[in-house]
Amino acid sequence: MTAVLEPALRSPGREVDRDAALRRAAARVLLSNWTGAATVPSRTLYPHQWSWDSAFIAIGLARLAPRRAQRELETLLGAQWRDGRVPHIVFNPSVPLDAYFPSPDFWRSSGAGAASGAPADIETSGIVQPPVHALAAWQVHLADPAESRRRGFLRRMYPRLAAWHRYLAASRDLGGGGLAAVVHPWEPGLDNSPVWDAALARVEPAAPESFRRADLDHSSAADRPTDLDYGRYVRLAADYRDHGYDDARAPHAFALEDPCFNALFIASEHALAEIAAAAGADPAPHRRKAAEATAALVERLWDPAAGIFLARDLTTGEAVGGHSVAGLVPLIVPGLPEAVARSLIATAQGERFGLGRVHLVPSYDLTAPEYDGNRYWRGPSWFNTAWLVHRGLRQHGAAPAADALREQALDDALRTGFAEYVEPHSGQGRGIRRFSWTAALALDLLHRTPQGEPAR
Ligand code: DGY
Repeated sequence: MTAVLEPALRSPGREVDRDAALRRAAARVLLSNWTGAATVPSRTLYPHQWSWDSAFIAIGLARLAPRRAQRELETLLGAQWRDGRVPHIVFNPSVPLDAYFPSPDFWRSSGAGAASGAPADIETSGIVQPPVHALAAWQVHLADPAESRRRGFLRRMYPRLAAWHRYLAASRDLGGGGLAAVVHPWEPGLDNSPVWDAALARVEPAAPESFRRADLDHSSAADRPTDLDYGRYVRLAADYRDHGYDDARAPHAFALEDPCFNALFIASEHALAEIAAAAGADPAPHRRKAAEATAALVERLWDPAAGIFLARDLTTGEAVGGHSVAGLVPLIVPGLPEAVARSLIATAQGERFGLGRVHLVPSYDLTAPEYDGNRYWRGPSWFNTAWLVHRGLRQHGAAPAADALREQALDDALRTGFAEYVEPHSGQGRGIRRFSWTAALALDLLHRTPQGEPAR
C-alpha cells in the first residue's frame, strides 16, 4: 500500500517541490512495473501487457527513457496478428495462469485464432483496444528523434501501424458508414460504462460457476464491474473465440460505434501521416482517411442537442448511452468543426461533468441515475481521459481550463499514490495504486518545452 502524500499548495516554491517529488515517484512506479520488455499496468491486478495502457505508458516513458518507450511499443506490435489486429492483452508466459482472468487458456489465441493470423508462439487475447498507438509512436519519436532515427524506429513501426489501421477500417466497419465498431465492452476500454447497459442486457450471461474472477483478489468489489457484467463479458469473448475471432463469421451480439475509439483512430491516423512522411512513405492516404473518418464521426455520432458525441448501437441503429467522457474525447481530433468543439467544451464545463469544480473529468454524467463515483467507468475520473481532454482543450484554445486540469491531475496523481481512478467529488483514490498510466501521463504532463510551455 502506497502512503498517501500531502497535496501540493499553489505557490511556485511548493510547485517545484511537488514536481520534483512527482517526477521521482512516477519514475519509481514505471521502473518497478517494467518487466524487461514492456510495462505491466499493475503488478497485481493487470500482470501482463495491455494494448492501450502500453500506448499511454510509452507516451510518458518517452520523457524518462525514450529507448525503453520504443521497446514498449515494439513488444506490443511484435504480438500483432497477420490480419493486422493488435490484441488487447499480450500474455507473459512466466505469470501463473490464475493470476489474471480470462487467462491464455480461455482465449486460446494460437489455436482458435490461427486462421485469423494469431501468432503461433505468443499467447494473446483476441479482442482489441482503442488505437492510441500511432499517436504514441509519433510522440515517442519526437521525444528523441536522433535515437529514433538511429534505431530505425519509425521505419519498423510504420508498416505495422498501417496494417493495424487497415484492419480497423476494413474488418471493423460493421456499420458500413466509415467508422470502426467495437464488439466487446473491453474494446473501447471503458468496460462497465452505462453506455453499454442496453446492448449488454441483450446478452445471455455465462453461468457464474463457469469462471473465477481474479480481479477481486486485488481490488474492492465496490470499485469493480459486477458478477453479472463479467458473465456477459465472458459470453461475448467465448462466442468471438468460437468463431475463430473472424469478424465476417462472428455473430457480434454486441456491436457499437464508440466516439472515443474512433476519435483516437483519427488522431492516430493524423500521426500516421507524420510517421509515413518521416519513414519515406506517402502521407496523403492517411490525411484523406483522417478527413473522411472525421466527417463520418460528426455525421454519425454528434448530437447537437445533447452537446456531446453519442455511441451508436449497430443492432438497433440507435444513439445510446447519454453523457460519457467518451463523448468528450473527440476534442482531440484536429480539424473538428469549431462549433462542435465549443459545444463540447461547454458540456465539459456544465453540470454533467463539472470541469474545474470536481476532480478531473468524471467518466459518466454526474447528474444521471446510473452515476456511481466509485465503480470503475460508471463515474470515477481517470487520468488517461483527463490527459486526452487536456490535450483537446489546449488544441481548441481553452488554455486556462487545460492548465487547471493539468495542475489537478498532477496533484491527484501524487496525492493518491498514482491511483487507477479517483472519486470525482472527494478526489479519493479508487481501484489499485501505482498504476502505470497514471504515473506515465503525469510525467508527460510535467514536461515543458524549452520555452517553458506545457507540452502538447
Ligand atoms: C480488466 O481485466 O478489467 C480489463 O479492463 C479488461 O481488459
